[in-house]
Amino acid sequence: MKGIVLAGGNGTRMHPLTLATSKQLLPVYDKPMVYYPLSVLMLAGLRDILIISNPETLPVLRALLGDGSRFGLNFSYAEQKEPRGIAEAFLIGEKFLDGGPSALILGDNLFHGAGFPKLLRSARRELDGCTLFGYPVSDPGRFGIGEVDAEGNLVSLEEKPSKPRSDNAIVGLYFYDSEVVDIAKELTPSARGELEITEVNQVYLKQGRAKLIRLGRGYTWLDAGTHDSLLSASQYVQTIQHRQGVQVACLEEIALRLGHIDSQRCYELGERMKNSDYGRYLMQVAQEVG
Ligand code: TTP
Repeated sequence: MKGIVLAGGNGTRMHPLTLATSKQLLPVYDKPMVYYPLSVLMLAGLRDILIISNPETLPVLRALLGDGSRFGLNFSYAEQKEPRGIAEAFLIGEKFLDGGPSALILGDNLFHGAGFPKLLRSARRELDGCTLFGYPVSDPGRFGIGEVDAEGNLVSLEEKPSKPRSDNAIVGLYFYDSEVVDIAKELTPSARGELEITEVNQVYLKQGRAKLIRLGRGYTWLDAGTHDSLLSASQYVQTIQHRQGVQVACLEEIALRLGHIDSQRCYELGERMKNSDYGRYLMQVAQEVG
C-alpha cells in the first residue's frame, strides 16, 4: 500500500493567515501541520508517500521534507493546479499508485491515540474495497456521517444530514483497494466543480465493500482548518507533550522506533536542530534507544 497526503486547497476559512502561505505549513504548536498526517501514514507502516499540493506550496514542502530519506521514507511530489476536490488525488496519483492499494490522508487532519498503529495495520490487512474511519461528534449535522451495522460494514453515508442516523463523522483518512483510480475517473464534478470523495465512497457502499472503523473514546481527531481548531490543536499537542514528555508526530522518532533509521542518524538529525526542544528531544530519544 502507498500513501498520499493531500495538502493543497485554498484555506479560505483561515484568511488572512493563508493569503500568502499554505495552511499545511502553519504551525501546530512546534511543528508544521503536514507532519501530523505524515506521522499517521508512517504509523500505518507506509514508506512510499506522494505529497500533493498547489504549485506555489509544492517547492516549500519539498524544501521542508526533502526526498523523505531522513525519515527512511520515499517522498514523491505532484501538483494539484486548482483545488478540484479530494478525489482528484487519485487521478493525480495514478502513476504513483501503479495499480496498487492506497491510503489517503488530508493535510490538515491530526490523529492521536493509544493503539493507533495497531488499528491502522489491522485495517490495512483486512482491506477489501474501502475502509473509512469514523469519529463521534456532538454536532453530526456539520459532517459527512456514516452509519454501520454490527460487523462494521457501512450501511449509509450522508453529507451534513438534517436528521443524522449516527454520530460517526467521516474523518480525513481513507483506505482504498486498487479500484479507486478507475472509480475516480468515472466521477462527474459536483455543483461546486469538485470531484467529491463521498461519491467514491458511495460507489464502494453500493458494492457492499465499504467498512467504517470507529475511533472511539481514547482517540483524538482534529481538523485544523479554522482559526479556533488550529489553536485547539496547538494547545492539545502542547498539553500532551509537556505533561507526558513525549512528542506527538515526531517523524524522526517514529522512523527510529520503526527501524527506518538508526539511533546515530537520529542523534545527528537532532543535533542539527539542537537550539530547539524538538532537536534536543531527538538527541535524547536516540540515546535512550541506543
Ligand atoms: P478543505 O478544508 O475542505 O478546503 P481548504 O483547505 O481549501 O480550506 P477552506 O475550506 O478554508 O477554503 O480541505 C481539506 C483538506 O484537503 C486540506 O488539507 C486541503 C485539502 N484539499 C486539497 O488539497 N485539494 C482539494 O481539492 C480539496 C478540496 C482539499
